This record gives sequence, C-alpha cells and structure tokens, in this order.
Amino acid sequence: MESCNLCGIIAILSKVQEGFQVSVQIREALKRLEYRGYDSVGIATIDSENKRFQIKKDKGKIDEVHARLNLDTLPGRVGIGHTRWATHGKPSKVNSHPHLDGSGKISVIHNGIIENFISLRNQLIELGHEFKSECDTEIIPHLIEEELKKGINYEEAVHGALTQLQGSYAIAVLNIDEPEKIIVARKESPLIIGLGENALYAASDIPAFLPMTNKVKFLLDEEMAILTLNSVQIRSIRDFNTIIERETTEIQWTTEMAKKGGMSHFMLKEIHEQPNALRNTLRMDPVIVEKFAKYLKDAPTIYFTAAGTSFHATMAGQFLLARIAKTISFPFISSEFKDRIGETIGPGSVVIAITQSGETADTLNAVVHAKSQGAKILAITNVLGSSITRHAEAVLYTQAGPEIGVAATKTFIVQIATLSMLALTLAEMKNSLPPAKIKELRSNLDLVPDFVEKIIKLEEDNIKIAADQYAQKEDFFYLGRGLNFATAAEGALKLKEISYNHAEAYPAGESKHGPIALIESGFPVVFVAPPDETQDRIISNVMEMKAREALILAVCEENDHEIIKLSDVVFRIPSGCNSLFSPMTYVVPLQLFSYYSAIRRGYNPDQPRNLAKVVTVL
Ligand code: AGP
Repeated sequence: MESCNLCGIIAILSKVQEGFQVSVQIREALKRLEYRGYDSVGIATIDSENKRFQIKKDKGKIDEVHARLNLDTLPGRVGIGHTRWATHGKPSKVNSHPHLDGSGKISVIHNGIIENFISLRNQLIELGHEFKSECDTEIIPHLIEEELKKGINYEEAVHGALTQLQGSYAIAVLNIDEPEKIIVARKESPLIIGLGENALYAASDIPAFLPMTNKVKFLLDEEMAILTLNSVQIRSIRDFNTIIERETTEIQWTTEMAKKGGMSHFMLKEIHEQPNALRNTLRMDPVIVEKFAKYLKDAPTIYFTAAGTSFHATMAGQFLLARIAKTISFPFISSEFKDRIGETIGPGSVVIAITQSGETADTLNAVVHAKSQGAKILAITNVLGSSITRHAEAVLYTQAGPEIGVAATKTFIVQIATLSMLALTLAEMKNSLPPAKIKELRSNLDLVPDFVEKIIKLEEDNIKIAADQYAQKEDFFYLGRGLNFATAAEGALKLKEISYNHAEAYPAGESKHGPIALIESGFPVVFVAPPDETQDRIISNVMEMKAREALILAVCEENDHEIIKLSDVVFRIPSGCNSLFSPMTYVVPLQLFSYYSAIRRGYNPDQPRNLAKVVTVL
C-alpha cells in the first residue's frame, strides 16, 4: 500500500476571473509546504470551459517537476495541490495525488493513512470500480462516486464517504459538476482554512497561504467544511446536521514562524508533534513488522548498531526484546562496531541498524562491515530510500515526518515505538508471553501518544521555570536504571548538545563507583524514576545523593509521593502508563528541559555549534 501520512496539501477557490491562474499560486504554496515532503507533486485544476480536470503530477521535488511539466499552465481559478513525503513504497507518477474517481468528475488530495483501505477497495472492486494506483487515497473519490449514485447531494456524498474511513486524513475534494465549491475535512491530520479577499484557501499548514492572508479558521478534528465563493460552512462529521460557528483568527506570524507552527524553533515544534508522530508510527502495517520479526525469530545472534540518539533507542530496544520477546541482543555504537566485533560476526547473525536519517556514515560503515562478514542487515529509519535501506533486507519506516531540528526528538520516540511493536510481534511468534498479556501490552502501547500529549500540556510551564532556575549550572548527572538508563542517556545528550551544559548519564547503580565523588552541595542530579521494579533501588540512589546535598530533579509519576518527598524539582508523569513504554513518556520533560535551558542561556537550539543533522564523516 502506498500511503501519504506526511504530506502537504493546498486547495484554492479564487474569485478573480480575468487572466488569473490558480496553478501558479498552488505551486508557490506547495513550495512553502515542501518542508513537509518532497517526493512527488501534483496539481489538479477545474477547466470549466471543457468541464474537466486538468492534472499534472509526477515524482520528484516541486522545482524538478515544474521544470519538466510547467505546472503554471494549468487553467482555471479552482484547484488543489499536493506534495508528498513517501513513507512506504517508491514515489511514482501513478501514485502521486490528486486521484480521480471512475467518472473523472471527483478529484481528491489527502494527507493521512486510511487503515481500512484494503477492505473498502475490495468492496468497491466488487461494485465494478477500477483502480489505477496502489494508493489508499484513491478509494476516497471512488467512495464519493458511489455515494452520489444514491441520489444524495454532493456534501452528503462526501460525508457518507468520510463516515466509512478509518484512520487519519486531511482531504480536499473537487467536483466538476459543482465547480464553485471545495469540500475539505480532517481527522487527526491538520487542515486550516485561509480567508483571502479574493480567494479561499485550505492547507495543511498556515505558511502555504500566509503571503495571501493572515485570517484563518481552524478546522478541528472530525470536522468538514464546504467552501464556496461566499461562505465557509463547517459541519461535524459525527453529526452532519450540526453546523459549527468558528471564529476567525488573525495570525501574527511571519512565514518563517509559521513553518514552525508559530513556535520559536523547529525543536519545540517537533517536541509538540510527538503525539501524532507516535500515532502515525503505531499504525504501521503489522504484516511488515511480522516479516521483519521473522529474521529475528531463529537468529543465533542479534546486534543493534546506531549512533547518538538512535543508539539510545537501541538500548531501550535491547531491554524490550529481552523483557517482552525473551530474546537477547547486543547494542554497539556504530563507530565502535567494526573494531570491537571484528571477524566474530558471520552468517546467521542479524544486525538491526537504527538511523533516523539513514545516512550516518558510522552506521553505514558498521553495516558494510557486518554485511561483508555475511550477516543479515535490517534497518529502522525515518527516511524512505536513504542509503541504509539499500543495504537492508527488511526495513521498518518510522513515521515522524521530516525532522529539521538538529537535536533528535520525535524520531527518538518513534524509534522506541517501533521497537516496542517489534518486540510484541516477536513475542507472539515465539509464544514468549501469553496472548492475553500481549493484547494488554498492545493496548497500553496505543495509549502512549495520549500520555505524551498530557505531559506536554501539563508540565511545559513548570519545566520552563525549572530550566530558568538551573540552566546556568555547570554540570549535571542523569541517572536511571534498566530500561530508563536509555532515557537518562538521551536526556543528558539533549542537554549537552543544545544547552552546552556538561551532562553525564550513568546507570544509577554505577554512580557510587566513582561519579559520586563529584557531588557537593547543589550539584544537580536528574533521576528518571518510573514505578517499575527498579524503584526501590532508585530511591536508595536518590537518598545517597541527597545525603551529599545534591539538588534532586526527578521525572516520576504524579502520585509517587516517596520520590516527590525526596526531590527538589519534580517533572510529573500522569499515572497509568505501562512502565515498559516509559522511555517514550519520561524523555519528554528532559527534551523540554534542554530546550528551555538552551533558550535561557541564549543559544539557538535548532543550530547547535559543531553539530550537523546528518553526520556523513567517519
Ligand atoms: C541527536 O540529537 C544527534 N543529532 C545525533 O546524536 C544523532 O542522533 C546521530 O548523529 C545519529 O543520527 P541518525 O539517527 O540520523 O543516524
């Protein structure tokens, strides 16, 4: 299946008649959305003279496709455009949006994933529909076509189609028979309506139309809107008869700010995007996870290799495979892999390389060595078609969307979500846990995005205050045990790379074997302290530090009174999240703490000194 869960969409309905070509505006809007994806591009406009769509689409970046096809020549003043960030399968012309129904009268662009696409497609095929692409989106115009056959009006038909969709979507629909109307709808994917003097806009993000208008109406989840030249009518998808009044908001952002969702930095925007990045990742096709897990089922030796933040994900991955799938694996930092493992690796071994960019030279080098020794290579990456995918026999794609901030945030937690799904799938294959337990864990995992959302909402202000207070401290320790040593390591890395404080992570139990010598009054020690089997020992470590007058900052559950009593600063995690998935929640306050520390110290977190987003040197 081809899906487009991280794309940019734009729809424009213009009042201007004479000599106006909406295609130019759509192309320029897509350029401003290109940070959301750039694997393929497509535009459809309504050619009202000939009563048909004019469509140009192809794989490639907007400028490349424009150079080949000249997107500006599409006629008309009503159109839709799409730029795609491919996540599954290769970008191709046929899979590019917009997609049409069988009659050629309905055209749709979509950002999201239709989960029940296969069953809907099969039903439509039985009804005689023919499909040109492998894209889940293509079922939407066909569903609308089918609904229209019932003799209902266009709005009802779009609504009828929407009620059949499971998954996420932001869509814009054009209908040749109603050329003065655009229907848009959203569920979990963003969509904002822009109100210009001479045109209406709807887009995935405000920068798309900000040069034209700063007046917007926000479409909320599970709402649709009918845009005509004189009106914007918003309806609830759950209750079609409810017409919703929505105030108009004036956006005071520059285009640059708008790309960051109105936030001051990409890093902050990406921290806030984590709940949706997780939701998208957790929708990963179980069949693909199964294929990947099969490589691990009978492998005599499993290694992980990765660098930086991705290495911290491998540490969590080792724990999850051991605990859930009763499978031992060995994480190695990529730059150390060849030197340490040498020729001891060979056929039968499996190496899982984790790299968000897919281009890290150290990780590619480790993989090339392992492959030359006959090992099988698997990869977890965020970037389709990246170099690592060419070395790997199987790939799991995380669904974080492009990460622009140099400090990895959303890509880290989706790597752990992927590893959690992998561990659960392997556990199923190996019968290492009772099916009921696996089912329960899967439900617990599905709740993680909501927990992350709550943490950001409830704790961000408190974390900012703590960062303001302690950002000037020279040195920090970050301590955690078991699974959450990975979280502590990630928290320390975040602080040093963007706020330039000296931060060291240790397994909490190791702190008494040396590091504790540095503790003196006011030395900040950050504890990652979930209520799991390590809790009593963590409390002992907190007390050891406290006895030496350390300043205790703890990430712990909101009702963990014992830890709270011992701590000077607490970052609270709402109770009820399964501790097996705690790195995804407990890391969030640490990311925010680093971000606000960097701000307090006057540094730009998006461009930390001496660092690059992709490290392509050994
Ligand atoms: C993380 O914040 C850093 N930017 C860095 O450690 C990064 O994780 C590392 O270079 C690995 O990158 P990759 O995941 O793209 O391979």
